[in-house]
Amino acid sequence: MQQVTGVIARSKGAPVELVTVNVPDPGPGEAVVAVQACGVCHTDLHYREGGITDEFPFLLGHEAAGVVEAVGAGVTEVAPGDFVVLNWRAVCGQCRACRRGDLHHCFDTHNARQPMTLEDGTELSPALGIGAFVEKTLVAAGQCTKVDPDARPAAVGLLGCGVMAGIGAAINTGGVTRGRSVAVIGCGGVGVAAIAGSALAGANPIIAVDVDARKLETARRMGATHTIDSSATDPVEEIRRVCARTYSGAEGADVVIEAVGRPETWRQAFYARDLAGTLVLVGVPTPDMTVPELPLIDVFGRGGALKSSWYGDCLPSRDFPMLVDLYRQGRLDLDAFVTEEIAIDEVEAAFEKMRRGDVLRSVVVMS
Ligand SMILES: NC(=O)c1ccc[n+]([C@@H]2O[C@H](COP(=O)([O-])OP(=O)(O)OC[C@H]3O[C@@H](n4cnc5c(N)ncnc54)[C@H](O)[C@@H]3O)[C@@H](O)[C@H]2O)c1
Ligand SMILES: [Zn+2]
Ligand SMILES: [Zn+2]
Repeated sequence: MQQVTGVIARSKGAPVELVTVNVPDPGPGEAVVAVQACGVCHTDLHYREGGITDEFPFLLGHEAAGVVEAVGAGVTEVAPGDFVVLNWRAVCGQCRACRRGDLHHCFDTHNARQPMTLEDGTELSPALGIGAFVEKTLVAAGQCTKVDPDARPAAVGLLGCGVMAGIGAAINTGGVTRGRSVAVIGCGGVGVAAIAGSALAGANPIIAVDVDARKLETARRMGATHTIDSSATDPVEEIRRVCARTYSGAEGADVVIEAVGRPETWRQAFYARDLAGTLVLVGVPTPDMTVPELPLIDVFGRGGALKSSWYGDCLPSRDFPMLVDLYRQGRLDLDAFVTEEIAIDEVEAAFEKMRRGDVLRSVVVMS
């Protein structure tokens, strides 16, 4: 066992705290990873606000890269010294989804078996089964995905959640390809990643929608061909107009990605689709939210697909090394997602900046 410093959310809505965390030595199938960098994702804030579960205290942080320090018995996939991005989809290979070949839907993903605890023995719930705003974390070995060790930890760690969720929402869930039009509602880290993914896939047009003009500027840098400030303009009308200019008669975009997680933006996404278009919900709603009143005839009459995207339907072992290679080749600008590097005691301030829309990603870098 070792004692390290980490960031927890002790109770609903309370500011996060820097505490001592007890990290057990790795047991069978487990690994201890020295965290080098971990991004601040909106999902961490959802945890802190009790929007995900009420299993406080949470050990926050889950978009991380680091170096494997030690592994437990039977671990063959990684070894001490390996540079890894942590993932929250260590597939089991046994559940009904895995058995039919849908590993990206695995219903029984692996996490570490032993708990990390506070000094008094209180068990911590690690965010998304990771918990990485901490100097060292205990995970299942399958949660460690080896990538090119020359990559910058603050940038590639973001593949561990938000950036992968966004790119995958476009390419994997939405099936975005050349010759398809895309609109993305909400251009934070996840939405801008969906834009970058759509650009990688060759989509046109790529329409970015946000209520914050600064986010729209970033979206344009990352590949958006058009931007819509939905605090001033009806985004549904505007998306239809832009798409009809490229594809005569289009009644909206082929793929609309909702990256906010709110009923009103989901509704906009629903109506901004062309006939037979696909809606991808990647934003995470809170349990109190309901789908706004929707005429069933509109669901039928527009056809297409209404999908949700968990983690961009990714397979870490397939997607992380591939995206890190595209980054190293200059084809995917992961550095552009890192607005600032911060210290581990600045997570609370980073939540405030996220709330104000000042950042795409603040990334905790361990000294
Ligand atoms: N499905 C997944 O696997 C997955 C993974 C990671 C994050 N998420 C979720 O994705 C969502 C976005 O995460 P993020 O880290 O990018 O958050 P973020 O706070 O960085 O970005 C949210 C963006 O939405 C914009 N926005 C807010 N209200 C809007 C509105 N009414 N219309 C248009 N834009 C609006 C904000 O200005 C901001 O740019 C969150 O709900 C997060 O929990 C999902
Ligand atoms: Zn499985
Ligand atoms: Zn996340």
